[in-house]
Amino acid sequence: MVTASPDAYRAAMRQMASSVSVVTAAYGGRIHGMTATAVTSVSADPPTLLVAVNRTARSHAFVTSSGRFAVHVLNESQLAIASRFAAGIDDQFAGCAYELEPGGCPVLPDAAATFVCRASSAYDVATHTLFIGTVESATNGGRPPLLYFDGAFVALAREPA
Ligand SMILES: Cc1cc2nc3c(=O)[nH]c(=O)nc-3n(C[C@H](O)[C@H](O)[C@H](O)COP(=O)(O)O)c2cc1C
Repeated sequence: MVTASPDAYRAAMRQMASSVSVVTAAYGGRIHGMTATAVTSVSADPPTLLVAVNRTARSHAFVTSSGRFAVHVLNESQLAIASRFAAGIDDQFAGCAYELEPGGCPVLPDAAATFVCRASSAYDVATHTLFIGTVESATNGGRPPLLYFDGAFVALAREPA
C-alpha cells in the first residue's frame, strides 16, 4: 500500500484555504473552546455538519461528555480569537464576550456564522474523531469570514463592487 508521508501531506494541505472556526462546548460546569479548520458541511436536510477533533485535544472530552457543541465561523476581524483558542491556554474565555445557549454551550458574538449542534454520532479516524453535528440552530452573521491559508490567517480578497 502506498501512503504519502505526513510531511508531504502537510505541505500540500497548506494550499487548501479554509474558513476558521471556534468549536465550543460545556460540561461539568466548565466551558471550553478550540480553533478548528476541519469543519465541513455534510447535508442540508436534515442540517448536518462534521468537525474533526484530535483525540488529544481537551475539547474532545467536552464534546464526548456533553453530546453537543457550537461552531462559530470567525469573521475577518476575529484573528485574536482564532489565536487564543488555538493556544492551549487555561483561561480561554477571560475578557471574551459570550452567552450560554439553552443547552449550555458558550456562544461567541459577531461570528460570520454560528451553528449549535447535537453530536448525533462520532467516528474515530486515525488521530481524530469525526463528530457529526445535527444542527439545532444556524445563524448567518452577515460578515466576511476569516481564512487560513499557507500557514497564516488571511482575509478574503474580493473584487471591488
Ligand atoms: C488554524 C488552525 C486550525 C486548527 N484546526 C484544528 C482542527 O480542525 N481539529 C483539531 O483537533 N485541532 C485543530 N487545531 C489545533 C487546536 O486548535 C489546538 O490544538 C488547541 O490548542 C486545542 O485546544 P484544546 O486542547 O484546549 O481543546 C487547529 C489549530 C489552528 C491554529
